[in-house]
Amino acid sequence: MVVKQRASNRIRLLEDPMKPIETRVKKLQNEGKRIISLVSGDPINAGGFTPPEHVVRSLVMAAQDKKNYGYSGYLPWGLELKRAIADRQKKDHGIFYPPDRIVLTYGGTNAIDLLYFSLFDPKDELLVPEPTYHLFVFLTQCYRTKFVTCRSDETNDWLPDIDDLRTKISEKTKCIILVNPNNPTGAVYNEKILREFVNIAGEHDLVIISDEIYDMTTFDGVKAISIASVAKDVPCIILNALTKSYLVPAFRQGFICFHDPEEKINELVEKTNTFASKMLPMSALIQKASIDVLKGPTEFRKDLLKKLEKRRDYAWKRLNEIDGLTCVKPKGSYFAFPKVDGIGRIWKSDKDFLLSLLEEEGIVLRLGSMFGEKYGVEHFRVSFLFPINTMREAYDKLESFMKRHVS
Ligand SMILES: Cc1ncc(COP(=O)(O)O)c(C=O)c1O
Repeated sequence: MVVKQRASNRIRLLEDPMKPIETRVKKLQNEGKRIISLVSGDPINAGGFTPPEHVVRSLVMAAQDKKNYGYSGYLPWGLELKRAIADRQKKDHGIFYPPDRIVLTYGGTNAIDLLYFSLFDPKDELLVPEPTYHLFVFLTQCYRTKFVTCRSDETNDWLPDIDDLRTKISEKTKCIILVNPNNPTGAVYNEKILREFVNIAGEHDLVIISDEIYDMTTFDGVKAISIASVAKDVPCIILNALTKSYLVPAFRQGFICFHDPEEKINELVEKTNTFASKMLPMSALIQKASIDVLKGPTEFRKDLLKKLEKRRDYAWKRLNEIDGLTCVKPKGSYFAFPKVDGIGRIWKSDKDFLLSLLEEEGIVLRLGSMFGEKYGVEHFRVSFLFPINTMREAYDKLESFMKRHVS
C-alpha cells in the first residue's frame, strides 16, 4: 500500500479483539448453526424491554412539530435539555450543575471520546482500576495515552485496591477513570472507597472521570453514589446518557457534567463546550423528546429492576453451579464477570476458551481481556439482560461444555 494512502496512525493501530470471534460466528451462521449470544447490553433488543409509554409519546409529539426538523442550534431545546439534566442530577445525586457545566453528546460513547479528545495528550497517564469498560481501553490506543491499571479485588466484590492504586501514581498521572456501577464486573462502589479516590486525587491534583451510565441500574436496595457528591474541591467529570436509565439507546443522547466547585478546570469546560457547539450538532427532534423523557415519570423502573434482578439472580446462580466457574454477585449494571478455572491450563487464553465454546456449543460471550489485559484474562463477560428461557438454554450448553473439559 502507498504510505500516503494509508489510514492515520491514530486508527491504523486499532484492533478489535472480538473480531476473530465475530468472524467465526458469521461462518458458523452461514453454515446454518444456531448461535446464542449473551454479549449485548441493549435493553430493548436483547432484554426484550419496551420503552415506557411517555417516552414513545414524547418522540411522536416532537415528530409532529414541523420546527423540530430544522437545525437545533436555532431552537431553545439544547438549553432546556441541559436544565432537565441538571434537575435529574440534583434529584438523583444532590449536585446542581449550571447549564454551562453540562455538555451534550451522542450517547455515552461520544462523551468518552470527547473527553479523551479534550483532556489528554499522548503519553498522559490514566490511572484505571481494572477491569474497566472496553471503550476506555480502545481509545487509549487511539489517543496514544498510557493506561496504568490497578487491581480490583474479586474477593472483595470487585472493589478497587486502593493501596495498589497509590503505588501506580507518577508525575505523568493526569486522572483517575472510574466506571461505577461497573461494566463488566457489576460492582457498585461504596461511599468509603469513593472518598478514598477523592482524597488521592486531591493529594496529586488529579481529575476524576466517572462513567455513571448505570447509576439507575442497581439491585438489592444498593444505591449508586455519584462521586461528585463526595468531592468538595476535586474536579469530577461525570459521564452519563439516557440510554440505560430511560431505555432509549436509539436516542443517542448522552451528557457530560463538570463538577468543579473551585473552578480548577474552567479552561477544559469552556473549550469542550466550544468544540461541542461547533462539531456536535444534536438532533432537535431527539433533544425535544429527551426533555420530556427526563421530566416524565420514573415508576417504570421499579418493574424493570424487579425483572432484571430476577435475571441477574438466575445468571449468578447458574454460573456458580457450573464446575470450573465462579462469579461475584453483580450489584449493578447488566453484566457479570465470571472466572474460569482452566484458562492458562486447559485453554491457552480467554480467546481460546471462547472460540472452543463457540465451536462446540454455539455460545458467544465477550473476552475478559478486553476489559482488563492484566486482571481480566481468566474471565469472560456475560450479559444477564436476556429472558430466562434464553439464558437457560445457553447456561445448559455452557454447563455441558465445562463438564466435558474440566474434571
Ligand atoms: C459503562 C458504559 N459506558 C458507556 C456506554 C456507551 O453508552 P451509549 O450506548 O449511550 O453510547 C456503555 C454502553 O453499554 C457502557 O456500558
